[in-house]
Amino acid sequence: MVKIAPSLLSADFREMGREIERMAQAGADYLHYDVMDGTFVPNITFGSVVLEWAAKCSLPVDAHLMVEHPETHIETYAAAGAKIITVHAEAARHLNRVLRRIRELGCLAGVAINPATSPEVLRYSVGEFDLALVMTVNPGFGGQKLIVKALDKLSEIRNMLDADGVDALLQVDGGANEKTVGLMLEKGANFIVAGSALFGSENPRALIDLAREKWLALHPEQK
Ligand code: DX5
Ligand code: ZN
Repeated sequence: MVKIAPSLLSADFREMGREIERMAQAGADYLHYDVMDGTFVPNITFGSVVLEWAAKCSLPVDAHLMVEHPETHIETYAAAGAKIITVHAEAARHLNRVLRRIRELGCLAGVAINPATSPEVLRYSVGEFDLALVMTVNPGFGGQKLIVKALDKLSEIRNMLDADGVDALLQVDGGANEKTVGLMLEKGANFIVAGSALFGSENPRALIDLAREKWLALHPEQK
């Protein structure tokens, strides 16, 4: 079944805990936690201290590190309670070493690529990651428009994985909403991140149910 992760970036921070529980109630699978350092991306969000509190809520935390030198931060995020830690291929100089370390720490290891980055950068890391994150906006902000072309990378990554007989989650992040989620799934995503479309909605369940319906229409064997 497709997995859904609301991105905390778009939550109402006056009510962080309640906002996270609202997403759990709506049927989300993970909480997507966007860490930005003001250098890798032109914005700064929250770090491991806030994650420690977020991890006390009902959703497992999927930490997306949009930071330079991710290798210096992964221990801290694992200790704070993240279940998935995703680093950017563009920021990790020794990608396989970082991915192995994330797994050693007991987390699922994810690798993200920006919209203009070729999926080729993942080729020699196949088998070392549990999740590939295809960014469908330039990272840094919520509420941006989907870059449709980036979705083509999903099938390229799937082919790379299949050639080596390994599986991994294929996550997309950026511009997901009720109009775009169908295309994301058709192109091969099985893990959808949505910020503004979920936290900004009075009825986040509608989008989550829609994604699951569309997923089952594409994968009837999983009914
Ligand atoms: C962007 C972040 C995303 C962002 C998605 O840099 O990585 O997770 O919150 O927001 P929406 O779904 O609003 O495009
Ligand atoms: Zn993200």
